[in-house]
Amino acid sequence: MKPQRMLIGPRDSTMLLSLCTFILWAADTTQESLLDSTPSCPREVSIKGGTVSLSDGYHQGSTLIYSCPDGSYPYPVQNRICQSDGSWTPMRSPSGRRVTQALCRDMRCPPQQAFENGFFSPRQNSHAVGSALNFECFDGYQLRGSAQRHCQPNGLWNGTSPVCDDGAGHCPSLAIPPGAHASGGHNHLGDRISFQCLKGLDLVGSSQRVCTPEGEWSGADTSCRAPYSYDRAEDIGAEFGASLTNVLSVVSSGSDHSGLPQGQSLGRKLILSKESFLHVYLLADASHSVTKKNFEIFKQSLKIIIHRIASFEVSIRFAVFSYASQPKMIVDTFDDIAEDPDLVIEEMEEKMKYEDHGNATGTNIQAALRAVYDMMLSHRAADETHWDQTRHAIILLTDGKSNMGGSPKNAVNTIEDFLDVKENRQDYLDIYVFGVGNLDVDWDAMNELASKKAGERHVFKVADPQELKKAFEDVLDPRDLQDLCGMANNSASAMPDQKQPWHVTLQQNTQKERSCRGSLISRTWVLTAAHCFRYFNYTPSWKVILADGIELPIKRRIDHELYNVQAKVDQGIKEFYDYDISLLELDMPVQFAGKTRPICLPCTTGANKALKKPETATCKDHESDLLSFERVPAQFISLDNERMNVQIKTKKSRPTCISEAIQHELYSKVANVSEVVTDRFLCSGKDENGVVEDASCKGESGGSLFVEKRARYVQVGVISWGTFDPCKNKIKDTDTGHTIRETPKLGRKPRDFYISLFRVQDWLRHHLAGSLRFIPQQ
Ligand SMILES: *[C@@H]1O[C@H](CO)[C@@H](O)[C@H](O)[C@H]1NC(C)=O
Ligand SMILES: *[C@@H]1O[C@H](CO)[C@@H](O)[C@H](O)[C@H]1NC(C)=O
Ligand SMILES: *[C@@H]1O[C@H](CO)[C@@H](O)[C@H](O)[C@H]1NC(C)=O
Ligand SMILES: *[C@@H]1O[C@H](CO)[C@@H](O)[C@H](O)[C@H]1NC(C)=O
Repeated sequence: MKPQRMLIGPRDSTMLLSLCTFILWAADTTQESLLDSTPSCPREVSIKGGTVSLSDGYHQGSTLIYSCPDGSYPYPVQNRICQSDGSWTPMRSPSGRRVTQALCRDMRCPPQQAFENGFFSPRQNSHAVGSALNFECFDGYQLRGSAQRHCQPNGLWNGTSPVCDDGAGHCPSLAIPPGAHASGGHNHLGDRISFQCLKGLDLVGSSQRVCTPEGEWSGADTSCRAPYSYDRAEDIGAEFGASLTNVLSVVSSGSDHSGLPQGQSLGRKLILSKESFLHVYLLADASHSVTKKNFEIFKQSLKIIIHRIASFEVSIRFAVFSYASQPKMIVDTFDDIAEDPDLVIEEMEEKMKYEDHGNATGTNIQAALRAVYDMMLSHRAADETHWDQTRHAIILLTDGKSNMGGSPKNAVNTIEDFLDVKENRQDYLDIYVFGVGNLDVDWDAMNELASKKAGERHVFKVADPQELKKAFEDVLDPRDLQDLCGMANNSASAMPDQKQPWHVTLQQNTQKERSCRGSLISRTWVLTAAHCFRYFNYTPSWKVILADGIELPIKRRIDHELYNVQAKVDQGIKEFYDYDISLLELDMPVQFAGKTRPICLPCTTGANKALKKPETATCKDHESDLLSFERVPAQFISLDNERMNVQIKTKKSRPTCISEAIQHELYSKVANVSEVVTDRFLCSGKDENGVVEDASCKGESGGSLFVEKRARYVQVGVISWGTFDPCKNKIKDTDTGHTIRETPKLGRKPRDFYISLFRVQDWLRHHLAGSLRFIPQQ
């Protein structure tokens, strides 16, 4: 029946009634109750200050949803169902008291309970939307996170939880989120900190965190959420995107791209291979309260996410389910179509119907996850190859708490056991849970299901399905997917060019021994040291040799305009290396593949993703993330393509480090070392701690100094100069042909200096704006 038939005159309408009561209940109530013998529920269900919507009129089984304007939420926080006795489920306060009139209450943000080594204001029991919280640290402590936070209309503080850190701990100090109490240790190795939320707030993330040997906290960031708070699409886009990018990049580093035809790049349609390495299971709630309209939005959201995920150059197989009381499988990972996103979507169009669940309209998340488990079982039984290397991501969309089938957590445990997800296999399973609907979403239950990983979030709640769709549209912007930076093959058997695919050699045509190193930071740009060109200034006489041996001409060279080796000759400083940095533009863009890849440049969107920072992160956040320890473990690459280890001395350790610069005979008469080692320089070298550190050799200049974060590499400096050359005597090992690096004489403390990429940001931004996307400085 076409909708316009409804518009014909009153003569026809009685005939249509029995079929179209859903349209007519509002127009004519007496006739409806005559034709429909089941009792209908009362219409007196208003909410003070808000609006009411119903999934199926006042009929039995219909769900009643209260909505309130932005900045407020319905109280009590519950959906109501029209029961078989013709009454709405009663409303109850959180303490169980009966409530007769629903009303819209103003959103409030949770109060800060504690803040170590600093102070905050104002201290209140809760905060109104729009109000601010200000934080300050005691002397000697540095503030990480937001110094000022505002209470937003979604019931959450903006920015990130601040913390005061003196950099002395093994792990960075852990922020105490608003609404939480912390107890336990500090930030020493092995310390354990437990969080508890104020009464009425739900804990999201990990309730206990441990300072690990890697200097990071186990588990996911903790937050305390009011049941009515929700995430905004833009926050989800950023956080879900950052986490999912991580899943996808781990997988894509495992595939071989050497067969790429010219012009093919990352960020395009996936390259399909026989073996698949990532299975993505998508589960959409089709239970009664979702309503057909919202189910359609779920479907569209899943299609969007399939397209987004498929835009990675990764081999993926999809599975799709809808579920209510029972799950319905739409696509199986083992189907032929499972690896073709277009066909998966076609299949969804055809087979994924809200009506399929008939009357069985409960929410049985446990059964849905069991179905995923069964699928895994049969897939492995049918095809064992690569199973152990296959990663799995489950994306679960639900409107409400599981109301039948038992605890879904049991199903998650079964899946974890089956996939052998232990400490060292955490990467093999990611479970994302999206709670949808501004009511009735059970944070505890969702949090229990979702994965908990350092620096990532796996559980979200949005106000309505439209927001979810918007969030998925925002996520994984294909413009950012290109050229995943800072990835390398760390397998023991990998060749050097696979281990540091960004590392390039610069060679002068006539004097082959004149060489420097550099790093690929985009398709067309190489970063190196300006002093490399001191004696052979003519750029066309140089070429760039990529890690895989390909030689490329240089189109243009840009030295830092403040680089001037003779700037301080008058002051008795014969050579001065401040701003010792250059950019080389290649004649043509390189094609990225397994052996040719850029390193991440800090303060770019690429580095932001690699570091799993939210989209709102700034350059300052990157600096404090990468250089937050007193002694930051970092690496550079030797003439023989080995990774060498150093420790960058920051904060209190820096002055001692740079003071040894005067060991160099050039500077032996310099009274004030800061005249030579300006703020632009990072410093490394053996200190009183006695940790053995490598020193760089002549010829290694221009190469990258980089920091590893969860198997991604971010450059922090460019090798400029040092006080000791361990390769000076050019002694080769007769077996390997490698240069033997000599150790310094007893008592000497070699020092190496690097141009910090954080101190030449304006220059980098100015020249690279067209090639890389930068995030704000502050
Ligand atoms: C928080 O919101 C306020 C007011 O909208 C804004 O001025 C501020 O920049 C925001 N802070 C962060 C860290 O996003
Ligand atoms: C790394 O390189 C090794 C040796 O070439 C290769 O066997 C392996 O498949 C590579 N691993 C990844 C993850 O690319
Ligand atoms: C749905 O309910 C109707 C009436 O209560 C019943 O006749 C029908 O068999 C049910 N369908 C299913 C799939 O359970
Ligand atoms: C040392 O030189 C730096 C940089 O020129 C200057 O800022 C500082 O004041 C000098 N310190 C002393 C003790 O002269």
